[in-house]
Amino acid sequence: MAAAAQLEDVPNESLFSELLRRMKCAPKPEKRIILVGPPGCGKGTQSPIIKEDFCLCHLATGDMLRAAVAKQTPLGLQAKAAMDKGELVTDDLVVGIIDEALKRPSCSKGFILDGFPRTVVQAEKLDAMLETQGHKVDKVLNFNVEDSVLEERITGRWIHPGSGRSYHSKFAPPKVSGIDDVSGEPLIQRKDDTAEVLKSRLDAFHKQTTPVIAYYSQKGIVVDLQAEKPAKDVTSQIEKALS
Ligand code: AP5
Repeated sequence: MAAAAQLEDVPNESLFSELLRRMKCAPKPEKRIILVGPPGCGKGTQSPIIKEDFCLCHLATGDMLRAAVAKQTPLGLQAKAAMDKGELVTDDLVVGIIDEALKRPSCSKGFILDGFPRTVVQAEKLDAMLETQGHKVDKVLNFNVEDSVLEERITGRWIHPGSGRSYHSKFAPPKVSGIDDVSGEPLIQRKDDTAEVLKSRLDAFHKQTTPVIAYYSQKGIVVDLQAEKPAKDVTSQIEKALS
């Protein structure tokens, strides 16, 4: 009843476009996908395209944690120090966030997990969560990029904080420098997007996340992507992998 009352204030155009989206999505098959790769490999760039094509919910633990930090919630306060240093936050903290988010109605037909799981413990806990619902991970997209390419990608990235839209000063520039194409609002650079913090983030990736790829390889569900190629080529590789 409360939800129905809230809908009364939603403009007609928004209701119709959501209705059309749901009709388009109804026949699409369920899919549960994980994106894994080092910082700046393109997970956040490709996720909105996969979300749109396959009608999945997109859960990015980095975005969720940054939102909690910005709101200064207890969770955000716990996560901030590790994030600023480029270290991973605790498994319990991120597993709790994902467990909660997977219950959203928009995730009922599947999901794209972007930045989770990042440790084998997280992967095991995710499997256990899905098992209770009779589900499993279908595919793990492994974004392969040499470390040497990532510094330029990370230090040139600009973000629209409201939507998470990301740009790059050289590879994907906005129409007007420093301004979001859609909202006209200013773009910002992430606090951890420096060459110095990138070193710790890469270290965390190689030590703690590479074993996650081995964990899913044993299950035969990893697809290797050549993520050094231009973004459009990576999108084509993903479409092929998921079709
Ligand atoms: P998170 O936000 O997940 O950061 P990340 O994994 O380091 O990934 P990024 O967002 O930096 O990179 P991306 O792959 O999305 O790259 P993008 O597409 O934007 O995590 C941040 C922090 O949160 C962590 O350090 C940790 O502290 C914490 N955290 C999060 N999840 C956690 C977990 N599960 N457990 C514990 N802690 C956790 O691309 C980068 C740039 O390159 C963009 O400017 C883009 O335009 C450009 N670009 C993209 N693709 C291409 C291409 N093909 N060619 C040229 N340029 C490209």
